[in-house]
Amino acid sequence: MIRSLFAATVLACSTLAGTASAQDGGANAADLAKARGAIKGLAENLRPTLVNAMKAGGPVAAIEACQGAAPGIAADQSTAHGVTVGRTALLVRNPANAPDAWERKVLESFAAKIEAGAAPDTVDFGEVVEEGGRKTFRYMKAIPMAAEPCMLCHGTELKPEIAAEITKRYPQDKAVGFTPGKLRGAFTVKLSAN
Ligand code: HEC
Repeated sequence: MIRSLFAATVLACSTLAGTASAQDGGANAADLAKARGAIKGLAENLRPTLVNAMKAGGPVAAIEACQGAAPGIAADQSTAHGVTVGRTALLVRNPANAPDAWERKVLESFAAKIEAGAAPDTVDFGEVVEEGGRKTFRYMKAIPMAAEPCMLCHGTELKPEIAAEITKRYPQDKAVGFTPGKLRGAFTVKLSAN
């Protein structure tokens, strides 16, 4: 049913990138809109936090600011949108963001699609699954690696003071070595399906 709703988008993306992936996975339009709204809310609240912290104190201070603020912002947006929203990745900085089995599968498919030439900012996937006896809609949207400012903290050659601060705060960090256009991670949403 939502397929028709997305026909135009899919067409537009196909024309541009040769592939498209807005998938409803059996969800209704309202649930999909809710999931996307929560992602928008999270992205729009994370961005100024990072940018302002960088402006105020530079990247080393911004690492501390991110560590302090990111989990709370995700929790607030989850409450505000009545869903669970967060970020995950195959290679995580914060171990609390590690993917579960479903998320890992989706991340692997995202990476494959991007390797095959899909434009990273068009890659998403949704599916209605059964969790604990409840119908649950799960949805993910790729987060592409960008040059600015991402390379400072997730790139291939970190400045020593930035690398040191990251290792101090995230001794198990795996979220380095990315180049622009690659899959950095994904937004992930879960909600009770209607
Ligand atoms: C100032 C350093 C800094 C910059 C710049 C930065 N990040 Fe991060 N990033 C972090 C930190 C610190 C975390 C861990 C936050 C936490 O504890 O939840 C993180 C976590 C993430 C995560 C969540 C998954 C994980 O690894 O834990 C994603 C996805 C992510 N960053 C993407 C990006 C993207 C895309 C950009 C560029 C737009 C970017 N980051 C720029 C420091 C940075």
